[in-house]
Amino acid sequence: MTAGAAESFERVFGARPPGLQCARAPGRVNLLGEHTDYNGGFVLPIAVDRAVRVCFRAAAGPVRLWSEDAGSWAAFELADLRPPPPGGGAPPGDGAPDWGAYARGVAWALQEAGHRLRAIQGVVSGDVPMGSGLSSSAALEVAVGTAFCAAAGLQIDGRALALACQRAEHAFTGVRCGVMDQFASIHGRSGCALLLDCRSLDFEEVPLDAAAVRVVVCNTGVRHALGQSAYNERRASCERAVERLSRRLQGVRELRDVSPAALRREADVLDAVTLRRARHVVGEIARTVEGADALRVCDYVRFGHLMFESHASLRDDYEVSCRELDLMVDLARGRPGLYGARMVGAGFGGCTVNLVSAEAAGEFARAMASDYRARTGTSPEVYEFRAGAGAEVRAC
Ligand code: GLA
Repeated sequence: MTAGAAESFERVFGARPPGLQCARAPGRVNLLGEHTDYNGGFVLPIAVDRAVRVCFRAAAGPVRLWSEDAGSWAAFELADLRPPPPGGGAPPGDGAPDWGAYARGVAWALQEAGHRLRAIQGVVSGDVPMGSGLSSSAALEVAVGTAFCAAAGLQIDGRALALACQRAEHAFTGVRCGVMDQFASIHGRSGCALLLDCRSLDFEEVPLDAAAVRVVVCNTGVRHALGQSAYNERRASCERAVERLSRRLQGVRELRDVSPAALRREADVLDAVTLRRARHVVGEIARTVEGADALRVCDYVRFGHLMFESHASLRDDYEVSCRELDLMVDLARGRPGLYGARMVGAGFGGCTVNLVSAEAAGEFARAMASDYRARTGTSPEVYEFRAGAGAEVRAC
């Protein structure tokens, strides 16, 4: 893969200079804990063995990055970076920001954090499916951020890099995302899920026994254009819930501070929709903590129940699922070897994540692809992932 990246660099820049490096940052699959990160809650992602790569070198003059996938350049001066005005930076037709916005945003956020960067030239490539809820954008941010840090000789703490990438996304794409995706891409550990406390950013590696279970991801291929504004709306609902609940409950700064029992008691302070949104978040945080306990003792049956509960809550209370995701979860239910299934990521399309016994995983993947095709006429991509390592830089 790195040899290929160096060849691409030579093709694009006309030379293969010594000292070329490759920054690699993986996508992620979240096993449990959806829409909890921006509420100070817990998440349980794995980094996957698919990644975005930047083959680069430090160079004078403007930053010049070529994307193999988009077939386009991002070129900018480090001194000239400014976020677009709110609502600006008009995304192209499908509602997704242009890939260069992520690269510019990361350079801007690192400089805002006080780091002195050097310009780079590089070629960006990758195999994280885009727009599928597997965090191809966070992988891009982290790969570019890792390349900038390496080029400038900066040793940045992983938490600080994750926060800079998150800030880049807020400022340059207008999506008020949490920190889970960037964090998982940086701190992923082979064979482990990460139980991340999104308030303190402390985390624990929870082993996932690959001899016993596999993570199978089914991609509906659906991408809803309104996903980004709906995401920000959900976040605003959570903030509204906190504002109201904190009038009655002491010490409530985020939904993390509200227990399921307290929410039931104080339900009348919220309108019906805001109550449903808060109920998802508060329940999902509790499920994630319980799920980590279940994983620690290899109780996959319990973990699977929690995944199904999570899906129902995302569908009915948080309302971020869609017909295709619900169908994919229903098709998985009851299949040999399946422990649990649910939609993954922000929602409004994308993928489901399934926890399947290792011996049944191959047959499960085949059956899911053929049943979904029979029901919809569309062939879904199905991936079997292993928990992989986080971002790194290597010689090309
Ligand atoms: C997106 C965001 C994350 C997180 C998930 C939902 O992936 O980038 O921060 O909020 O949605 O859990």
